[in-house]
Amino acid sequence: MNKLVVSLLLTLGIAGGAHAAGDAAAGQAKAAVCGACHGPDGNSMAPNFPKLAGQGERYLNKQLHDIKSGKRTVLEMTGLLTNLSDQDLADISAYFASQKGSVGAADPKVVARGEELFRGGKLEQGMPSCTGCHSPNGAGNAAAAFPHLGGQHAQYTAKQLTDFREGNRTNDGDAKIMQSVAAKLSNKDIEAVSSYIQGLH
Ligand code: HEC
Ligand code: HEC
Repeated sequence: MNKLVVSLLLTLGIAGGAHAAGDAAAGQAKAAVCGACHGPDGNSMAPNFPKLAGQGERYLNKQLHDIKSGKRTVLEMTGLLTNLSDQDLADISAYFASQKGSVGAADPKVVARGEELFRGGKLEQGMPSCTGCHSPNGAGNAAAAFPHLGGQHAQYTAKQLTDFREGNRTNDGDAKIMQSVAAKLSNKDIEAVSSYIQGLH
């Protein structure tokens, strides 16, 4: 194969073991241990444990590889992924992606500011709106691995935005998209946009 064809195949995710196709039915049994924190169907009850239900399969698979390799630190999951193969991670991702995500409610006191940030960004500071990548209804873009945000626990979302801003989460690629977005957000902005996202669907 010539170089052009190889790079095209890699771009499309056709070549390369990291993109093994996931089997949701096989993933359900493999995900049993995850249910204690994330909920058996991926709708966690505790606000610090992210909901995984309805999340994009590619995004989930990327996070699992990043958590397993230590590129993203999740202390609560230490050792949990060590014995899982690429196929196991793909199956688990397919399982949670196939579940229906639940939605919460936004705090009426901050919802207007949250919506303004989500839909309008902070153009005077060069910060784009969130909708371009995460879509106007927060569903994300599964094919591009832009995560689904709508309905996520506000506490979890706020922690991620703070972690991106403070450099505690750095697995957002060479372009550092989320680190540069979060750099423009104050604590108050983060509180408002995270609350807005919790009620978004
Ligand atoms: C003891 C609790 C616990 C268990 C068990 C657990 N997790 Fe997690 N998981 C967490 C926490 C806490 C986070 C978020 C950490 C943070 O704030 O960044 C997380 C994050 C994640 C994320 C990233 C979600 C996102 O939106 O970016 C994925 C994917 C994930 N877990 C999958 C799994 C899978 C699959 C299993 C089972 C093999 C599992 N977890 C078991 C606590 C747990
Ligand atoms: C140019 C595209 C782009 C823009 C604009 C953008 N994001 Fe993101 N966002 C991403 C990508 C890509 C990721 C996944 C990074 C990774 O792979 O870990 C992400 C991840 C996130 C996460 C982590 C999700 C999780 O489950 O852990 C949150 C929260 C988030 N973005 C919120 C926002 C908010 C709020 C805005 C607007 C203020 C925004 N993003 C603007 C591309 C974007």
